[in-house]
Amino acid sequence: MNASRQFLFSLGLIVLSATAPGDLHAADAMPTLEIEAGQATARVSPMFHGLMTEEINFSYEGGIYGELIRNRSFKADAVNASIKSDAYDPTQYYPVEIAVSNTPKFWRAVGGAALMLDTNTPLNEALNVSLKLDASAASRESPAGIANGGYWGIPVKPKTTYQVSFFAKAAKGFTGPLTVSLESTDGKTTFADAQITGLGGEWKRFETKLTTKRVEPSKDNVFKITTTAPGMIWLQQVSLFPPTYHNRPNGNRRDIMELLAAMQPKFLRLPGGNYVEGNYFNQHFNWKETIGPVEQRPGHASCWGYWSTDGLGLLEYAEWCEDLKMEPVLAVFAGYALRGDHVEAGAKLEPYVQEALDEIEYLTGDAATTKWGARRAKDGHLAAFPLHYIEIGNEDFFDRSRSYDGRFAQFYDAIKAKYPQLQVIATTPVKSRVADLVDEHYYRNQQEMESQSQMYDTRGRTNHTKVFVGEWATRVGSPTPNMAGALGDAAWLCCMERNSDLVVMECFAPLFVNVSQLGGPGRSMQWESDLIGYDALTSYGSPSYYVEKMFDQNHGDVILPVKAQGIPTVEQTPPVGRRGGTPTPRRVPGLYYSATRDTAKGTIYLKLVNVADAPQPVSVTINGVDSVARTGEAVVLAADNPQETDSIQDPVKLVPAAMRINGLGARFTRTLPKFSVTIFKLQPRPRHSGASIVAAANVNQAEDAAIAPTPTMIAPAPIPAPAPAAVRPAPPVRIKAGASEPVKDSEGNLWLADQGFDGGETTERPDIQVANTKNPDIYRTEHYGMDSFSWPVPNGKYVVKLHFAETFEGINGPGERVFSFDVQGRQFKDFDVWAKAGGPMRAYVETVNVEATNNVIKVTFTPKVENPQINGIEIIPAT
Ligand code: AHR
Repeated sequence: MNASRQFLFSLGLIVLSATAPGDLHAADAMPTLEIEAGQATARVSPMFHGLMTEEINFSYEGGIYGELIRNRSFKADAVNASIKSDAYDPTQYYPVEIAVSNTPKFWRAVGGAALMLDTNTPLNEALNVSLKLDASAASRESPAGIANGGYWGIPVKPKTTYQVSFFAKAAKGFTGPLTVSLESTDGKTTFADAQITGLGGEWKRFETKLTTKRVEPSKDNVFKITTTAPGMIWLQQVSLFPPTYHNRPNGNRRDIMELLAAMQPKFLRLPGGNYVEGNYFNQHFNWKETIGPVEQRPGHASCWGYWSTDGLGLLEYAEWCEDLKMEPVLAVFAGYALRGDHVEAGAKLEPYVQEALDEIEYLTGDAATTKWGARRAKDGHLAAFPLHYIEIGNEDFFDRSRSYDGRFAQFYDAIKAKYPQLQVIATTPVKSRVADLVDEHYYRNQQEMESQSQMYDTRGRTNHTKVFVGEWATRVGSPTPNMAGALGDAAWLCCMERNSDLVVMECFAPLFVNVSQLGGPGRSMQWESDLIGYDALTSYGSPSYYVEKMFDQNHGDVILPVKAQGIPTVEQTPPVGRRGGTPTPRRVPGLYYSATRDTAKGTIYLKLVNVADAPQPVSVTINGVDSVARTGEAVVLAADNPQETDSIQDPVKLVPAAMRINGLGARFTRTLPKFSVTIFKLQPRPRHSGASIVAAANVNQAEDAAIAPTPTMIAPAPIPAPAPAAVRPAPPVRIKAGASEPVKDSEGNLWLADQGFDGGETTERPDIQVANTKNPDIYRTEHYGMDSFSWPVPNGKYVVKLHFAETFEGINGPGERVFSFDVQGRQFKDFDVWAKAGGPMRAYVETVNVEATNNVIKVTFTPKVENPQINGIEIIPAT
């Protein structure tokens, strides 16, 4: 054990001793933290933060996978056979039987149509059923066909192009055409439609595009295929895709990918979780059946109770990684299924070992010289993917037969022999081989998570095996965690980060939940407390998401020791357990911390978590530096109470606020808001820089200034300020709504690119002339259809200037665009840009004097006729 490690151990003891019952309470004394900036104890693992994924809670179907049609291949009515290991040959294909009915799940008849699942007219061996549409009653007056309501709705967005494709054939005599359309469920509005001709006696693929106009975003919609010509039609693989992330064909939903991209993850643990195992051997993630053209993928019954089309298959997982610049951590099926069936190590396991070797080759093999590398190239991806980690199975501690040690050894030997560079992960401790990593899972309540948050401080370092915390969550809050969950997460992340020489990778689980139907038969949620929630139209990050993101974005590359004294404790009552009873309150530390440093820039990142229901002053000393800049940055997530949360209705209720702060130094005190997670970015100054050494600074927190939020940090959380003091005015902020680049106006003022809006779309009209202004360019871009705009500011008085001009060719007179808006409680009802400006193409500026009392300026917009629009916003501190 080296000296620095010993020092770190002693920190654990200091904290532990501070947690004894009867110890300090939050307000009793000021805890002190001493950071040894010159004594890095270890490197922060470069792979530390990642994501975990599997098909659960409609993560892919009705989630990140772009497909909008539910049950596109008509196999949701499959009879799920359970084939056990002794009867199962993994190299064989086992077609499912279909429970033939005339009410295929998630489809309904339109007009006088009759539907039937038809196993006598399959598209191919994989899609061994089709939908037979009897449209013999169709007429011009009464079109007949089918409708699909998607995954709890079909999202319709303005000016958006959707890709339609399907396979179809028709009985002799059908003259067509078919009409495909996007319509409101009540049938009153058709958003877009197109005609398909050329159906004949053989299966043929058809495709078209549907483009919407300027419509309100909505999800209570259906996709229809109808005809006015009588006849008999068969359909299969009916698909509707919105624009996808990076415009990948068969790709992922943009909004969810953007939430993930903002986390800057380093890896994606895939494809599970339980999903890699399946309930029975024939339901495991059989990767070879998830590649190639989507219409040749049979799909399979997933262990979370619904059919998986496998449209998001192995290649799509890898491309997802490529798009987010992360690498796969590949979990392979290891001969154990969830219902307890297994094969022993030996000859019977060999086909599964080969399946894993082939899978590695598919991802990493050379396209010219390997069989599976060539197959990957044929499937559309010539280049090999980076891959360094292979996980053997999932949660094999559930395998009561104790076969895992032997199974692991067989996989380990085969993988290391062919791919010695790969790190092999065990899912439970093994004795047969020295695993490179062991995957530990922790699902805990807040009090449990905080209680175990010194766990790795005292874990021995002599073992070669590192730790991968491949699933963990503070499970408080549903469907997504609330602030209590986020606080438990932050405490646990501090523990993992300051031990990331040992815990080299971590990922929260589960990652996703479709929040459309939280209970009842066919519900969209199988597991509560998931990181990111969404419905058909929108998505949001939970407070836990923001904590993960804060940690991911703000850390150095070396771990600094922190000596903590006087850490207070707080009393927490665990939730009532499954058996009822009255839980006993327990005391846990009230404050958690971790410090890292960026060796290139020198920046020190100090993370502090105050779980108490009271502001917590903290004294910080940084040893080993000459001085620390008086000004730095902080990112803060704080709530009024631990139940506060983000939701699909209120997606940015709790988000981190970034702010510039003063009064820092080599010694400073700071008061942390109650229920908060704070990351300080402290900048040591180089020696002999001429800057004065700041010692024992007392922070005037009222001088803090909010800084421009990053695009995903769109609204601030309220930061309780200490006693009032002179507020240094914040600089004016100017935003050119709809602009992709910042610009300067005629007076040299900088206008930032479009940001701070919640919802809506942007548009540019570069060639128009706008009167009544010295700065027509401001009005050549606009943001429209937004719900609100928020901007973090220090509390105080402001002049807010809202810039409008009616420049849309679809508005031809007053009364054609009317909306209301509210600026910090000042209401502007039935606002009509045309009327206010005195015509089109004329600028109008509404000037509003307001006061910010919770560190934000917020403008909300309510449509009445057409969409609200705006061209620019200025926020100028009142003098
Ligand atoms: O994350 C949800 C489930 O929890 C995973 O599928 C499984 O590995 C664990 O038990």
